[in-house]
Formats: sequence, structure tokens, C-alpha cells
Amino acid sequence: MYLGIDLGTSAVKTILVDDAQRVVASRSHALTIDVPQSGWAEQDPATWIAAVFATLDSLKADHPREMAAVEGIGLSGQMHGPVLLDADMNPLRPCILWNDGRSARECTVLERRWPALRATTGNKAMPGFAAPKLLWIADHEPEIFAATRLVLLTKAYVRLVLSGEAIEDVSDASGSLWLDVVRRDWSDEGLAATGLTRTQMPRLVEGCAEAGRLRHDLTQRWGMSKRPLIAGGAGDNPAGAIGIGAVRPGATFITLGTSGAVITPVESVTANPDRIVHTFCHAIPAMWLQAGAMLSAGSCLAWISQLLGASEAELLAPLGSRPAAPSPVSFLPYLAGERTPHDDTDVRGLLGGLSHATSRSAIVQAVLEGVAFALADCRDVLTDTGLIIPEADAIGGGSRSDLWLAILANVLNIPIHRLAEGETGAAFGAARLARLAVTGEAIASVCIAPARTATFSPEPALAAAYAERLPHWRLLYRPSH
Ligand code: XUL
Repeated sequence: MYLGIDLGTSAVKTILVDDAQRVVASRSHALTIDVPQSGWAEQDPATWIAAVFATLDSLKADHPREMAAVEGIGLSGQMHGPVLLDADMNPLRPCILWNDGRSARECTVLERRWPALRATTGNKAMPGFAAPKLLWIADHEPEIFAATRLVLLTKAYVRLVLSGEAIEDVSDASGSLWLDVVRRDWSDEGLAATGLTRTQMPRLVEGCAEAGRLRHDLTQRWGMSKRPLIAGGAGDNPAGAIGIGAVRPGATFITLGTSGAVITPVESVTANPDRIVHTFCHAIPAMWLQAGAMLSAGSCLAWISQLLGASEAELLAPLGSRPAAPSPVSFLPYLAGERTPHDDTDVRGLLGGLSHATSRSAIVQAVLEGVAFALADCRDVLTDTGLIIPEADAIGGGSRSDLWLAILANVLNIPIHRLAEGETGAAFGAARLARLAVTGEAIASVCIAPARTATFSPEPALAAAYAERLPHWRLLYRPSH
């Protein structure tokens, strides 16, 4: 029996997976985001721990027999957020999240101080990543920076609480801008450019390797018969890849969670940081992920649902399962700025083409289309590097919508597949990493792809209509700097 714990942005999801890879039970505990200023996003790490414990306490209460049999725990989590710890291993301030845009100026400083940044990390310095946030803290909160003994990314902090050990996996570490992604090791030069040294960083492991054991007292609290091993785990996107068996080069998938991304596993790095292609180590050795990443995907639907005072299901129902034609309304989904392809923190969303006749449904459809157009931008920067993307699997909450996947298939003009259990992707991937760490089985025999439960194929006339709209949609973007 294995546990997969995914520290998401909007919730912690914990699942129990049996030896036949069936999800036996699942628990979720909501998280909130603090927005101290427009464009900022923070969370108190204590709320993560409370949420993780709540899910595990609840599983213990309802599934004591299965919890007793847990042999391994896998962790996955939202990427890029640093937790700064003092000498007693207590967080010094709230975590600045992946979608926080405050450190744009620091990105310029970092790239100037470390000219090899893009070549070494495979990424452009962007405010979402950890390193520029540390420079911001050094500048604005020097006493906190000076007191920092250890820097852990989000799920590594959860591991510290669960096991007492400071260990990071290389996939999550790729989101820091301190990792040499090809060597899969910290870059001393990169750390120095941020005023840090290796002594302030956790030990690195592969995602499927052992990374400590659950503390004795917690083993007792959750009724496990022996101390479970904790696997290295992975950032949420690499963990999602493991969950859907994307362990072969070219197995492209699209995530429609709070954020969105088009992600392709590769055997050698084909970085293109200038076009905002992200490069992450995969959660398995000797593989990497190239990704186009957008900051607001599912969160755009959540936004319009809140704005219109109707649930997402209520908004989507009248639209049916496929679009008849593109909406007359256009939507730029840059509600929190955008990474791929613009790297523009200050740009904001836009609704265009409104008239007296505009219906609620036309606006809702435009929101789904705007996210799909932005994912087309992500796909294009990947294919520009020579990657071939003839089809893609879709995962994340948004993949539950037939309409959204039909729009995506027509906008990208490729078949899009919905996967069984796509919604538990990252937690499921984390549980698989735990199993690999415990059993040492072959990766391919554990990381099998779930069944494709539906395929959404482009329809020629509709795909042509969207192809005509895409260049007009692109023209709506005006750089904010
Ligand atoms: C990836 C990214 C997001 C977060 C939150 O670069 O910023 O996917 O991991 O989900």
C-alpha cells in the first residue's frame, strides 16, 4: 500500500493506492491563497501541514487497515515556492508562490550577475521561479534573508516535517534556477548569484529514490505497522507525468489545472529559454521535461464562475459538448500575467468583442477558448525546438469538460485524449514514485499509461475557423513593458 500526497495550490490531495495500483481512498483539504498586494500570492506553510495532517488523520479514521499496510509515501507539490527556514527549522515568512509576480526586476539583476543562467538552468529567469524571490527578500527583508539557514521548496518542507530530513528531488529543484539541469546538481555559481551557498540547500535525489522515512511518532499516529519510506517525489507537473505513464520521449500531455501547460518528455535537453520553454529534470533518471507553461487556466473558469455568481457546471451546461463555432467574444487569460510565450508579469486579461447582444454563454465559451489559444502558443514554442506533437493526453480538473477538450482539439488541430483517473494525476504519480523507491521495480512496468476514456478529434471546418481566429487573438496582446 502506498500514499501519494500532492500539495496543490488550491488543495492538498492525498490518496491511498494498493499494490494493484487501484486508488483505494482519497482525501482533499482546501487551501487558500493570500494576496497581500495585487500580483502577489503567498501561503503560510503551517496551513499546508495542517491540510496534510487532516487528510492523513481522516484516512486513518476511515481506512485503518490500509493505513497499517503503507510501505511508501510519495510527495508532489506546486513548484517554485521557497520556504526560508531559521536555525531551528521554523519558516521565517510565508512562502511566495509560483504565480507571484513581484520579482521581475530581480530577474534582470540575476541574469546580469550570472550570464550562464539560461545555458545552465535551461530556463529564463522569471518571477515565478525561486531564485529571484530570494533576491527580492534579500533586498526588502534583509533580516529574514540573513537569518535563512535552509531553503526548501514547498513539498520538501512537508518532507522535513514528516521525516526530519532536508532533501529535495531534482525535478522540483529545476524550478529554483539554482540547478544545473543537465548535471542534475546544484550550481554553485547560480547559488552565489543569489547570495547563497550549497550549505543552505537540501541534499538532492532522483524522484524515484529513497529520501528518508516517516518519523516514528507519526508512524504511530497514522497506525502504520512499520516506518514507511518517503520517496524523492516530484514537482506537480513531473509527478503528473509519472501518474499518466509519460515516461517515453514524445509522450506529450496537457495539464488543465489551476495553471496550464503543454509538456513533452525528452531524452536530451532541447532548451529554448528565449521563447520561454521551461526545462525540468523528469522524476526518473536521465530524462527531462520541456514545457510551455501558462499561469491561469482552470483559474480563469473559476474566476468567471465567481464573477457571474454561478457554478462552473451551471455555466458550462448550456454550451453542450462541442462548440458550433468560435465565440464572437475574445478572452486573453493573462489574469496573473503570463509566462510562455511572453514572460510578462504585468500583463492582465482582456475580454474583447462585447456587444449588447453578448450572452453569458458567449463569454464563458470565450474563456475556454482563450485558455486553448494560449495552450496553442505553448505547443508552438515546443514544436519550434523540433519536437513533434501529433496528439496529446489531457489531465487536470479542466479535462472533465467535454466542451473544453473539444475546443482544445480544434484549436490545436490534433486529437486530445482524456485519461482515466486524470484528475488524481500528481498524487497518483507521487504514489508510483513511492512504489519505485520501495520495490526497485522497472520504471516501465510501474508507470503504465491509464486507459484513454475518450478522444476528441479536430473537425476540419471548426479547426479552420479557429486557425483563422488565432492570429487575431494574438494581436490582442500588448506587452506591458
Ligand atoms: C510550473 C508551475 C505550476 C506550478 C503549480 O512551472 O509553475 O504548474 O507547479 O501547479
